[in-house]
Amino acid sequence: MRQAIMSSPGKIEYFKVKAPGELKPNELLLKIERIGICGSDVHVFHGEHPATPYPVVQGHEYSATVEFVGENVSKAKPGMKVTARPQQVCGKCNPCKRGQYNACQNLKVEGFQAPGVAQDYFIVSEDRLVVLPDSFTFEQGAMVEPAAVGAHATSRPTRLNGKNVVVSGAGTIGNLVAQFAKARGAKKVLITDVSDYRLDKAKECGIELTLNVKNAPVEDEIKSCFGDEGFQVGFEAAGVQTSLDLLLANVEKGGDVVILGVYAKNPEVNMYYVGEHELNIYGSMMYRHRDYEEAVSMIAEGKIKTEPLVSKHFPFSEFGKAYKYIDDMRDKAMKVMIDL
Ligand SMILES: NC(=O)c1ccc[n+]([C@@H]2O[C@H](COP(=O)([O-])OP(=O)(O)OC[C@H]3O[C@@H](n4cnc5c(N)ncnc54)[C@H](O)[C@@H]3O)[C@@H](O)[C@H]2O)c1
Ligand SMILES: [Zn+2]
Ligand SMILES: [Zn+2]
Repeated sequence: MRQAIMSSPGKIEYFKVKAPGELKPNELLLKIERIGICGSDVHVFHGEHPATPYPVVQGHEYSATVEFVGENVSKAKPGMKVTARPQQVCGKCNPCKRGQYNACQNLKVEGFQAPGVAQDYFIVSEDRLVVLPDSFTFEQGAMVEPAAVGAHATSRPTRLNGKNVVVSGAGTIGNLVAQFAKARGAKKVLITDVSDYRLDKAKECGIELTLNVKNAPVEDEIKSCFGDEGFQVGFEAAGVQTSLDLLLANVEKGGDVVILGVYAKNPEVNMYYVGEHELNIYGSMMYRHRDYEEAVSMIAEGKIKTEPLVSKHFPFSEFGKAYKYIDDMRDKAMKVMIDL
């Protein structure tokens, strides 16, 4: 089978290797169909990911067809459309024991600290498998991973129902967070960015309230959006200081701020202000299994739209070109897919 290995930053080499063979009773052999590229992959491509050694097989957001199943597998049969969580967890640490395995003390994420799926066939254990409805396209299947990030982040703070929400950053992640916030019953959801293109994509996905923070007296705009009600929950999905500052400075006292962003430069936070405003700061790390399942059902029901986010496809043999496209197009490249 074909396998793509990133041997060092910026260098992708292709190999012909033996397809994985023997399955354990609880394992499945998957034929990989689509792989989505996200910002973290781009960081690895540029040698700027803090926790990824080289060489590495990338690929952690994907859809697949089941090829073979181990003898104890009951969830899926050959020919079914599936996806799977890319998290290898220890099952023994305290976070794992209390069910918070997305924060496993020994977490390895496939595509980063463990080999990913950039190859024709891949073995996965049944506990991480999620079956996709027949009606799903392979593109939708590969979007379940980022959608699950949105599902998880929006279940971190106390109920969103009836609250006003600001999502700072309208990349794939912020977009999906905002869609989930609406689906969870938030009253008004405002999404911000510095790119009109990305704000237009948010509109296409049904998020009516958008704000380009480059052009506006931001505080006034937020006031005109929410009036005296203000907003109670902020999601930081840009990963930059000014985005975090905007949320902390404007969220209602006693409100919640959920941190999704990965910061190239560690931001400074006025901790006196956090204490004095009694703010709740939540971390949000990937997802758990139920987030994957919820992402699948919300996409199936049409409550979460993923099609407008897919910018372009490249064949497997052109992984490198996909990265070049992402670098050249900048804000106009949202989700780029690799077709196997
Ligand atoms: N916590 C998690 O589990 C998790 C999972 C996936 C990604 N992430 C992180 O979430 C962040 C978003 O991911 P993405 O794939 O959407 O990345 P992205 O780079 O596509 O999106 C970030 C967006 O923020 C915008 N932005 C920049 N400055 C801004 C500002 N001052 N105010 C508002 N918006 C601003 C950018 O224009 C861009 O549209 C990244 O930092 C990523 O590493 C976290
Ligand atoms: Zn990703
Ligand atoms: Zn663990």
